[in-house]
Parts: sequence; C-alpha cells; structure tokens
Amino acid sequence: MKNQPVTVPAIAARKNSGKKITALTAYDYSFSKLLDATAIDILLVGDSLGMISQGHENTLSVTLEDVIYHTRSVKRGANRALVVADMPFMSYQVSAEQAVTNAGRLVQEGGAAAVKLEGGARVADQVRTIVQAGIPVMGHVGLTPQSVHQFGGYKVQGKTFLDSKQIKQDAKDLQKAGAFSLVLEGMPEELAAEITRDLEIPTIGIGAGSQCDGQILVIHDLLGLNPDFTPKFVKRYAQLSAVIQNAVSEFVDEVCSETFPGPEHSYNLKKGSLKQVKNDH
Ligand code: KIV
Repeated sequence: MKNQPVTVPAIAARKNSGKKITALTAYDYSFSKLLDATAIDILLVGDSLGMISQGHENTLSVTLEDVIYHTRSVKRGANRALVVADMPFMSYQVSAEQAVTNAGRLVQEGGAAAVKLEGGARVADQVRTIVQAGIPVMGHVGLTPQSVHQFGGYKVQGKTFLDSKQIKQDAKDLQKAGAFSLVLEGMPEELAAEITRDLEIPTIGIGAGSQCDGQILVIHDLLGLNPDFTPKFVKRYAQLSAVIQNAVSEFVDEVCSETFPGPEHSYNLKKGSLKQVKNDH
C-alpha cells in the first residue's frame, strides 16, 4: 500500500515476493518530500552527498556530523519511505564499539531507521554488534566507494574467479552477521544474480544487472542533474539540468529586459493611499 510506512521487516519480506525493492538517495528535505510522495521504498542518505552536495572528488571527507545533518533534513520530509543513513568513512572501521556508538547517533540524532556500511568479512563484527543493539544494518559489497584508493579508481569488482569468490563470501558473512539487506554495487550481472539466488536477504543493485531483488540510483543521476557524469549503469529518466538552466536564463533575460516582475507579481498600496502618501511629502 502506498501510504503504509515502509519497515525493515517489510523490506526483508520482499525476498522472493515477486515485488522489486526501489531505493534512491536523498540529501535534503525538499527532495525527500517529493520522493516520499511516490511509491519509492527506501531513501538512502548516502555518503555520495560528499560528491553531490559538497562537490568533493570522493566520499572520504564526509563526516558523521554531515550525515546526521542530512539525515535529519531527509527524515522531516519522509513520512512513509524507510530512511537509511550511510556510515561515513572511518566512522565504523576502527572497532565494533566505535561502529555501534556512531550507528546509534545516526538513529538517535538523525532519525534513521537503519544504517548502511561498506565492506564484507572485515566489518562482520561491526555489523553483528550494531544489529545486537537493535539497529538494522544494510550491507554493501562490490565496488565500495570508500575503498577507491585501494581499487585504484571506481572500477567494476569481481570480474575474476578469485575476486568473485571473495565477494560471494563477503555477502554470506554479512548475512550471517545479521544484515537485513545488501547493496551490490559495480559487479558483473552474473555474479550479482548468483549472490541474489544464494542469499536469504534481499539484494539491491547499482551497476549490478537486473537480477537483484531491487535497484538503487543516486537521485541526481536519475534526474539528469549531473550532465558530466555518464556511467553505463545510469539511466536518466529526465534531463533536469537543461530545464533548470533554461528557466534561470529566462529569469535573467526577463529581469534585464524589465519584463519581470510584472504587475501580477507586484503589491500595491490600498486604494486612496497613494494620494495620502504623495500629500505627506
Ligand atoms: O552513497 C551512496 O549514494 C551509495 C549508493 C549509491 C548505494 O552508497
């Protein structure tokens, strides 16, 4: 049902239900409100905000405070969709204790219903500890952007036998640690399909083919707000950058030609007041 709040158990129950999970990133109140009024299931406050909202080259400089701030804004606009907050780089890698403390802040201060973190076996302890604290965790394997320097760039992962074996193991370890779902990013579709078949928890793909249990995109990519970014996995459902630039150019032209504001956009004194004002001077 469109207006029923989306819960973590409802997302978990989508596995093998025949209904795909849909997820998009959101970083502020206005977009959150617009997206929440559709049938989208999940709003992810992704650490991609570092690139999309802050203009950084990668996600590594995003802080926990940044994600809390953006999650609060998104939460205010989302009455129905499930709000998931990303754990930024170095907010969970140090220890399980650090991870649960920071996941707690995203829920308590940001209002998130669940958190997402990147990595497989090496973060299984963190996932287990966060889940034990009652906080649902979404895992994320494959092309995990926080490991950009380790990968030597944003490269599709799992193309070789050994790499794909590692990613499959990572996915299983995350499920065992208690993750309720898993983002599969930047990997061959055959690998994503096999992981999806093998797991009991739902997978949500981005650049991982069509066989995942759901799909996620960065909202700015879907809307064509980022004309310079054209990876293969993105489908632009609109070209809003052109729409915005045309609207702004029209505004500039109309202000300069003094056609805006027109009488219909201006306020006037009450009848008779103009005379009084003139007499006063
Ligand atoms: O940060 C992000 O936006 C993400 C999604 C692209 C999965 O992690």
